[in-house]
This record gives sequence, structure tokens and C-alpha cells, in this order.
Amino acid sequence: MSEQLAIAGGTPVLQRSDYQNWPIIGEDDRRLINEVLDRGIVAGGTAPQVAALESEWTAYVGARHCLTTSSGTAALHMALAAVDVGPGDEVITSAFTFLASASCALHQNAIPVFVDIDPRTYNMDPAKLEAAINERTKAIIPVHIQGLPADMDLIMEIARKHGLYVIEDACQAHGAEYGGRKVGSIGDVGTFSLNNFKNLCGGEGGLFTTDDEMYLKKGLLLRCFGDEIDEVSHRRIYNASILGYMYRNQELPAALARAQLMHLDERNAVRIANANYLTQELGKIPGVIPPYCPPECKHVYFMYNVRFDPQAAGVDCERRRFRIAVEKALFREGMLVGQWQTMPVPAQDIFQSKLGYGRSSYPWAVNEANGIQYDYSVEAYPVVRMLCDTYTIVHGIHAPNGLDLMKRFIEAFHKVFGNLDQALAHADDEIYPGADGKLYGAG
Ligand SMILES: Cc1ncc(COP(=O)(O)O)c(C=O)c1O
Repeated sequence: MSEQLAIAGGTPVLQRSDYQNWPIIGEDDRRLINEVLDRGIVAGGTAPQVAALESEWTAYVGARHCLTTSSGTAALHMALAAVDVGPGDEVITSAFTFLASASCALHQNAIPVFVDIDPRTYNMDPAKLEAAINERTKAIIPVHIQGLPADMDLIMEIARKHGLYVIEDACQAHGAEYGGRKVGSIGDVGTFSLNNFKNLCGGEGGLFTTDDEMYLKKGLLLRCFGDEIDEVSHRRIYNASILGYMYRNQELPAALARAQLMHLDERNAVRIANANYLTQELGKIPGVIPPYCPPECKHVYFMYNVRFDPQAAGVDCERRRFRIAVEKALFREGMLVGQWQTMPVPAQDIFQSKLGYGRSSYPWAVNEANGIQYDYSVEAYPVVRMLCDTYTIVHGIHAPNGLDLMKRFIEAFHKVFGNLDQALAHADDEIYPGADGKLYGAG
């Protein structure tokens, strides 16, 4: 039955007020934050909330050691420095990720190399990994994208075969599991972000996990200026033995993260139930491709990713234009949809221009001086380009939003897909507040 879409002047299915906010702030958050205020200790590398978060996170993830950090980006950089990645080394990561999975290599004077993704999981494609390895490769950073674990068995096997370190970028995947093991406990080092959007939120912050005592000790030095600690008094002696940074976290974010951790599994379960419902219902609409989760994985749906296929929808339209038309129509129906990354990471200006630091384009210049060329042509990442043409994120699947809201989403999808002629007629409407493809940012 034909209905007037909101983009064509009809009534929207949803209102912004139908959505509830993330993160959820409750009694546990207030209690632990108040503990910090009442105690009067607000920071310190071994302060009570930080220390408690570290031990609770090791127990949760199943790793021996954990260090809190000021961000996920700091944890990634610390991880590369801890395993001794250095100038001219190459670090392989996915071409569909957040910049920090690659810029952490630049921060260590190393050179990021990108691998295209699997078209079903959107994670690094292990079949393309070996071709990117050479004698300069030192580490692999698999990213558990949008909450779905990367193919860790194959990645670990390839890494061990070539003697490479594996740093897991689990910044989007708190509580996700691969073969029954929590991500962040599988590689040499695991890294997590605690920023406000994440499944585990501390406002800002990060976590560094490892089983290896050597990486823990190096991480402790790196986190605090490279300063040595006196073994008897456990105090800093203000004598830096290595180049370090200031990557400590604080008591208030650590307290918030601890309180949020008490509810992580229950809130992940809400995301999973919402996602499973959407996947089941969206799978019935020709032209809508819901996310895929391999049987060995537990996906925690930091983001819910949907793709659109004009041919399957029975429409003669170029794929990118079709996605934009559908995205705009859904947005006008009141849905919070829009893209996160809009291009492969190597397509970003920093890699195209290779303007790192210094006048000579470091760190690339380290190897280019020896005749090695780095080419970040976007043609090398056809699957990421296909994904970026065709995907959108359906926001709002987090708790406390539940199936009632998900049913409204499905209603909006049916309305738009039942009236694609109207959506396509409005594909050029100026409704984007920002860059092309950005309706509603995920951060
Ligand atoms: C995949 C990925 N890696 C790294 C980071 C960096 O984390 P943070 O923002 O805490 O530095 C993020 C977070 O935005 C991320 O999504």
C-alpha cells in the first residue's frame, strides 16, 4: 500500500524523543563516583579506582594483567612500543577501521600497511594478509570491527608462522568472544577504548591487557614518562630509563567504568537481542543486507551495520546513490542513521599526502630513502569501497532501548522500501548537516 514518506511530506514514523540515551547512568555510577569524591583521591597510577578497574578487567577478559590508560589510542601506541615496534617497521591493520588503529604505528615511527576486508564480516580478510607481509613487517593489528571479533585463529596462525606480534584493537568490542575467549585476551596485547559511545564507558579512557609480564613492565614505564619505580618503596624515582608518555587515567573515569562494567553483560545482551530482532526482520526485505555474525563469534554490536543493494530491491540505480536515497528517507522518518567511516582509512589525506612529521615526510621517509615505495591507492581496497558506498549505521540499538523501538525501526524500513520511488525522487534533497554521507555521527 502506497503511503507518503516523510521525505515527501508525510508524517514521520519516529521522533527523537522515542530514543533513550547512552550511557545509562544509575545508582552504581553515583555510588562509585561519590566514593572518589568522599575519599578525596582523584588521580594516581595506583589509586584505588584505577587499581580496582585493572583487576576487575583482567578477571572479566581473562588476561593476566591490565593497565588503565588515558584513551584507546594511548593503549594502542603503548602496545606497539611495548613489543618494540620501531622506525621503519611495518604494521598491518584493516582498511576499514578508525584512524587510531593505523596512526598508532605513525606515533611509533612505523609505517601502516592496510589489508582489505571480508565482504561478510567487514573485518580484515586473512586471505589477503600474507600478501602484505614482508621482511619489514613487525606486527598485525586486527580490529574487532563494530563489535564483531576478527578471524583470530587464522590471524594468529599467520602471525606465528611469520614471527609477528598481534595487538588486538578491541576498542569497539568489550565482551565480544571468539571461540569462547574474550577478545583482548588472544593476541600479545589487547587494547580497549572507554570513550562515551563505547559498550563500556568511562567518559574517556582506555585499557591495555596482556598475559606477558615483560609487556606489563614496559607498559608501566611507557604510561608514566618512562620513569623507573623503586622496587621497595613502589615510588617513582624520577629517572626515565626509556622514552615514555603521559598516558595515565584518573579516578573519576575509572570509577564510572567500574560501575558500567557491573552492567556490561546485561546491556550487551540488550544490544544482541535488539540486533538479532532487526537482523531477522530486515532479512525479509529485498535489498536490505543485515550484518553477519560467524558461528564461532559473539558479536556485541557496538554498531549495527546495514547495507543496501539496489538490484535486490528491484531498482535500477547506482549503489551509492541508492544508499543515500534510502538513508535520507529513513532519517526523515525519524531514524538516527548515517555513516561512520566514509572511505578506506588509507584514502584519508594523511596517507595520500604522506605528511607525517618533519620536512621529509617521516616516518615513510625512513624506508623511502632505501628505495621502498608506499602506495596507498584506494583501488587496493575494493571491498571497503563497496561497503562505504552501501552501508549505514542504525543507531539506538543500545539499552535501555528495547524491542518496542526496534519494531518502529522495522516499520520505518518497510515504509521506505514500500515506497522507493518517493525515496529516489528525493535523493538529492539537501538534508545533510555535514559532509556527504554524514547524517548522524557515531563518534
Ligand atoms: C577501532 C578503534 N580503535 C581505536 C579507537 C581509539 O580509542 P579512543 O577514542 O579511546 O582513543 C577507537 C575509538 O574511537 C576505535 O573505534
